This record gives sequence, C-alpha cells and structure tokens, in this order.
Amino acid sequence: MSISTFTGQHILSVNDFDRDAIQQVFDVADKMRPYAMREKRTTVLDGAILGNLFFEPSTRTRVSFGTAFNLLGGEVRETTGMSSSALAKGESLYDTARVLSGYSDIIAMRHPAPGSVAEFAEGSRVPVLNGGDGPNEHPTQALLDLYTIQKECEYHGGGIDGLHIAMIGDLKFGRTVHSLSKLLSKFKNLRFTLVSPNELRMPDSVISVLEDAGHQIRITEQLEGSLDADICYQTRIQEERFPSPEEANKYRGRFRLNTEIYTKHFQSKTVIMHPLPRDSRAEANELDNDLNMHPNLAIFRQTDNGVLVRMALFALTLGVEDLVSRYEKDVVWYTNKHQETM
Ligand code: NCD
Repeated sequence: MSISTFTGQHILSVNDFDRDAIQQVFDVADKMRPYAMREKRTTVLDGAILGNLFFEPSTRTRVSFGTAFNLLGGEVRETTGMSSSALAKGESLYDTARVLSGYSDIIAMRHPAPGSVAEFAEGSRVPVLNGGDGPNEHPTQALLDLYTIQKECEYHGGGIDGLHIAMIGDLKFGRTVHSLSKLLSKFKNLRFTLVSPNELRMPDSVISVLEDAGHQIRITEQLEGSLDADICYQTRIQEERFPSPEEANKYRGRFRLNTEIYTKHFQSKTVIMHPLPRDSRAEANELDNDLNMHPNLAIFRQTDNGVLVRMALFALTLGVEDLVSRYEKDVVWYTNKHQETM
C-alpha cells in the first residue's frame, strides 16, 4: 500500500504496509491524541456507521475500535458471537459481507478462521479492517505495538532500526507476534530472540520473512542469562487454539515474568510489552502484578495507543485525515483525562 491509496482500502495484512505507509499512520495517530485525551472533540465522522463484527472473544480490540470511531463522531453497530449471527445458519462470509456492508460505511471484523476476514472483504462494498483472523494476522495490533515501540524508543532517545526484541511464549498461535514480526521486518538490523517451547515456536513462514530481510534471529526454549534486549514482548498461551485444554496446560506457567525474573534476564531499560489479556491465574501468572508500577511496563500505554492508531486508520481509510480539526468542538463535561500521560 502506498501513502496515497489508503482511502477506500481494506486493512487485512501488515504485508500491505511499507515504511512510508506505517509512518503516515503514526503521523495521523499523533494528531488524534488531543481528541482521545478529551482536550477537544471532533465530529468529522458524524453520520458514519461502523459495523463492528466480532465472531471471536474480544474486549480491548472490539471496544477500542468502537471507541476510536465514536471519538471521531461516528456511530457503532455491533455483532458479537457466531451463534447469534446468520453464519450459524450456514450463510457464507461473502453473503454476510454483501449484506452488512449495505448497513455500514466501514467494517471491523474478527473471526477464528485464518483468511476469513480477507474472504469477507471480497464481498464487502466498504473498507474492512482485520481485527484478528484466527492464528494468522492482527494488523491493527501490530501497528499499535509498533507505534508504542517507536514512542518508547523516542523516550529513550532512539529509533526502531537496530533494536533487539525478545518475544516470549506462544509464538506459534499468537497472531500478534506474527504480524508484529512482519511489520518489524521492514526496519533495519534488528535482532530477535524468540523464546518458546519447540512445539510453540514461531512459524517458519514468519522466520523466513525476518531472515530474508537480513535480521538476526536466535531461537531458544528458555530464558537464559542476561539479554541485552530493548523490548521484551510477552504473550499468552492461546489456549483456544489448542486441540484440548489439557494440551494448553502443558505450557501454562512456563514463561512467567515477574520483577525477579525481569531483573535477572533483562536490562534496566528493557521495555515490557504484552498484547493483553495477560493470564493472571496462579497457574499461569505470565506477567506478575509486582511489575504493575514498573516504569518500563508499557502494557497500558499499548492499550491507550490502540485507540489513537485505530482512529488514524478510520480517518485514513475514510479519507478524512485532513478534515478532523475542521470539525472540532469544545469538551464541555468534567474530565481530567488530559492530565494522564499516554
Ligand atoms: C490478542 C489477540 O486476541 O490476538 N489480544 C489482543 O488482540 N489485544 C492476544 C491474546 O488474546 O492473547
């Protein structure tokens, strides 16, 4: 995808983004901050309708798509769960898309089957944004993760090129690490340490994208020694993609991160990320609450940034990125949101 062609495009895969397109999304996301922080509001999408179709569990992705659209002044129509939709009656994704795109100006969709959102997009008459298609891709999460990495690096006075990134946990089924790795592959001289049990290792298709782009990759089954990683990206065991809960239980709790483990294996500057939800049950506890106050814990900066990035994607795909401030209004209710640091 090149810079000038966002309007009317589907956002299905990170493969569609080159570095210029990524930077354009980030520049628009920066401009969205005052609206998300309630310093002012905009009604640029007044009258527009988002069809928010989530056929797989989701809290933050679904709500942040909806919130982002509301913050631009648009309305959200939501469908959740497969059993309550006509897909349960055997309707094809094509037909569902054909129908629902008649009711919306843009659609965000999550579905458990790889390739399903792209198949849906073929029947859609409006832009479709992939909110996660099974273990395949999660492009908007990757963009918000990368936006967060860029912001964290800027804070430490650096950039993305040359970073050392550790990814930990379920790298096989975790779609966020697939999309993030492919997006990162477009940068220069990166080092990756991929930590997972062999059975849950990063798919070869993703590794080859990184290798072809000349990045260094180290694959290991354990967190060992001291890693000079700039980013530690922890993931959840994606139990819903295992053949049985017992199978997932074999790996649950293998990759815990708490203050002690973090201090042992990482540097004082290593940024801690996680797409969330973190599995906080005692048997998993993959990202301990004892890190909650750690200044390097970026997980809630990620979720806040997700709104900015999704606002940017809506503005760009609907072609209003330069009109947002023209439709500006005052915020007249009580808010102390603008005092938060995002
Ligand atoms: C992830 C997902 O659903 O792929 N979460 C998210 O979108 N923020 C990761 C997960 O569920 O573990």
